[in-house]
Amino acid sequence: MPIIFHNKTKEFHIYNDKISYIFKILANGHPGHIYYGKRLADREGFGGMIEYALRDMAPCAFEGNSTFSLEHLKQEYPAFGSGDMRFPAFELERADGSRAVDFKYQKHEIYRGKKKLPGLPAVYVEDENEAETLEVTLEDAQLGARIVLSYTIFEAFPVIARNTCFYCGGECITLLNAMSGSLDLPDKDYEMVELAGAWSRERHVNIRPLGYGIQSIYSLRGCSSHQFNPFLALKRKNTDEHSGEVIAASLVYSGDFLAQVEVDNYDVTRLIMGIHPNEFCWELNPGEHFQTPEMILAYSEKGLNGMSQTFHQLYRTRLARGKWRDKARPILINNWEATYFDFNEDKILALAQKAADIGVELFVLDDGWFGKRNDATSSLGDWQVNTEKLPQGMKRLSEKINEMGMGFGLWIEPEMVNKDSSLFRGHPDWVLADSRRNYCHSRNQYVLDFSKPEVVDHIHGQLRKVLGEANISYVKWDMNRSFSEVFSNGMNRSWQGKVRHKYILGVYGLYERLIQEFPDILFESCASGGARFDPGILHYAPQGWTSDDTDAIERIKIQYGTSYVYPLSCMGSHVSASPNHQLFRYTPLETRANVAYFGTFGYELDLTALPGQELLEMKRQISFMKDVRELIRQGVFYRLKNPFENNSSAWMVVSEDRTEALAAYFRVLQPAQAGFERIRLAGLCADWEYSVQEQCPGGTSKPLSREINVCFGDELMYAGLSVSDAASGLYGVAREKQGDYLSRLFRLKKIH
Ligand code: GLA
Repeated sequence: MPIIFHNKTKEFHIYNDKISYIFKILANGHPGHIYYGKRLADREGFGGMIEYALRDMAPCAFEGNSTFSLEHLKQEYPAFGSGDMRFPAFELERADGSRAVDFKYQKHEIYRGKKKLPGLPAVYVEDENEAETLEVTLEDAQLGARIVLSYTIFEAFPVIARNTCFYCGGECITLLNAMSGSLDLPDKDYEMVELAGAWSRERHVNIRPLGYGIQSIYSLRGCSSHQFNPFLALKRKNTDEHSGEVIAASLVYSGDFLAQVEVDNYDVTRLIMGIHPNEFCWELNPGEHFQTPEMILAYSEKGLNGMSQTFHQLYRTRLARGKWRDKARPILINNWEATYFDFNEDKILALAQKAADIGVELFVLDDGWFGKRNDATSSLGDWQVNTEKLPQGMKRLSEKINEMGMGFGLWIEPEMVNKDSSLFRGHPDWVLADSRRNYCHSRNQYVLDFSKPEVVDHIHGQLRKVLGEANISYVKWDMNRSFSEVFSNGMNRSWQGKVRHKYILGVYGLYERLIQEFPDILFESCASGGARFDPGILHYAPQGWTSDDTDAIERIKIQYGTSYVYPLSCMGSHVSASPNHQLFRYTPLETRANVAYFGTFGYELDLTALPGQELLEMKRQISFMKDVRELIRQGVFYRLKNPFENNSSAWMVVSEDRTEALAAYFRVLQPAQAGFERIRLAGLCADWEYSVQEQCPGGTSKPLSREINVCFGDELMYAGLSVSDAASGLYGVAREKQGDYLSRLFRLKKIH
C-alpha cells in the first residue's frame, strides 16, 4: 500500500492492490490530475496521460506556449481566474478585493497512518500500518498562504480519504469557497446517482445521465437534510448492482453541503464536494487556519453493491466509534407511536411490562418527558423532568424499567428551543435568527445558536445532569427543523460568515463531551427521521433513525436507498402499528418485521392494545432476531432486486465467511395468476451446499420455519431461488398467505 513520489517526473502514485490515484506537479507548479481507478502497475512516468490541448481562444499560462492552458488541463485542486473557466474547488479574497491566486507545490510529506481532524469527524486507523497518508503543501508566495492537500489510502479499502487545510500567511485572507476535494475525470460517459427525498420519503435512489453544465445536489438547511444526502456516485451506463465501474464520493459532514458535477464543453467531468459556499465566508488572520471536512472517494468495478460494501465496512469499522461499534444492538421499544405526548408513569410502565414479557431489551422514552411539554408548543430547552407526568422522577422510572430486565433510554432535542420555555425567556438572543425581525418557526420551534460556546455549555450542563441522575443506557438525539434566517445575535460581520459551520462544530463538540462523559450510552441520531443521516454523525452515534415513515412498504425503498452508503448496523428500523400512522396502510405483522430485521430492530406501537396472538408472534420475532442480529449487523449486504423499478424486490445479507445468509423477498401487490419468479442470490460459495429454510410467522401451533430445500451455491446464485406462488410443494406460498404486501424470508446455512 505505498505512496510513491517519482522525483524525476514529479508524479505521485497512491495505490493499494485495488486502486491507483495519480497526479503530477505541472510546469506551473500546480498539481494536475492524471488518474483514479483500477490499480495500475507503478512506473516512472504516467505523464503521457496528460492531454495538453492546442485550442483556439484558450487562455495560456506561458508566453510562446499555446498548449498549457488551465482551461483544459485536469487538475487536483483548481482555482478560478488563472485560465480555468470551470467552477473552482476554492476561492479566496485579499483585503483589496483581489481574488487572483497562484498556489505552487512547495513540499510534501508521506507518513504511515492517518491524523485526526480536530473537532471534525473522520475515518481513522487503529494501527498505523492500516493506511498511509500524503500531504502536499502548496504555497502562494505573494500571500504567504499555504494549502495542504491530504490523501490517505487504506490497505484494505479501495478508497482515498481527502481533506484540505488553508493556512494564513502574513496577509489576511477571506475564504469564500473551500471544497474538501475535487476530481477531474477524462470523459463524461457517466450517470449520476444520488439519494433524494423528503420528510418520510428519505434517500430514494435517483439516477440521471450527465449533461453539459452543472448538475448538483446540496443542503442549505443546517443539516444534511431529507432532500439530499452528502453522497454522489458516477457510474457507467452499463453498471448495475453487481458489475461495472463506479466512482463515488461521500462527505463526512452533517451541515450544509454541495456535491456537484460539471461537464465542460470538451467532455471533461469535474466532481467537487464540500461545505456549501453559500453564506460561507471565513476570514483568516495571520497564524490561523481553516480545516475542511473529509471527503471519501470510493472506486468499485463490482457495481453499486461493490461500492456500498466498501462504504459499509469502512464506516462500520473505521468511522463509527466507541463501545457500541462492535456490539449487538439492543432490541428496543419506543413509546412515540404508542402514546405520542399523552402518557404518564402508569402508561409507560404498562407498555414497558408488555415489552419485557416478549423479550424487548431496551425501553426508550421519547418526546414529552420534560418541562411542561404536552404538545409541540412548549418546553424545548428546559431539560428537567416533568414531575406531573413522572412524579417519581427519572431515576425511579429508570430503576423500575431496569427491574423488568430492560435498559432505559431517553429522547432529547438539544439544539432547539420553544418560545414557551424558561430558556427562551432568559435568553431570547440565543436563537439563531435576527431577533430584531420576524423569523420563521417550524413545528413551533427555533434553532439555538450553537455557534456560540456559551449556548452549547448551557445545554451541556442541563444534559449532563439528566443523563447522570438516572440509569440511562441509550439516547435518541433529535433535530426537528431546517434553518431559515441564519444570524448570530450580537456578533460581528466576520462571525456571521462562519456561523453555519461553527454551528455544526458546536453539535460535534457537544456530542464529543457527552460520549466521553457517558461512554456506555448508545447514541442514536435522528432529525425528523432521517434528515441528518450522514457519515459525519455516524462518528458520534453508531445508529440513526432512518425515517419517521415506519410503513413497511415505504421502508423497503427507504432502506434500499439508504444502503447505498450506510451499513445495516446504523439503520434504525421498527415494527409499528397497522394501519400505519403515516400511510394508513394495513400490512401483515410478518412483513413489518421482515423489513425491520434489516436494521437495528425494535417496536414502536402500543403493545397493550394488541391481541395475545400478535404478542406471541412478536415474541418469536424477537427470539429470531436475537439469533440473526450479528449476521445482519456485520454481514455483507447485497441488493438483489430494485423496489423502485419493480413490484417485487429482494436483498440479502451473507456472513463474511459465507457459511450463513438471510435473504428477503418483498412483493407490493398480488398479481392475478402471478408469473413464475426466481431471485438470483449473491455472495455465496458456488460449490458449497446450503440448507434453505423459509421463516414462517409465529402462530401458536405452526412451526417457526420450514425446510424447503438443500441447494448448491451455484444453483442459488446462477439459476436462482424460486419465489413463485404457484410452485407446488417445496417453494410455493400457502394460499392464505398470498395477497398484497407479501414478504418471505429465507435462512441459508452451509451444510458441513
Ligand atoms: C421526530 C422524530 C420522531 C419522534 C418525534 C418526537 O419527528 O423523528 O421519531 O421522536 O420527533 O417529537
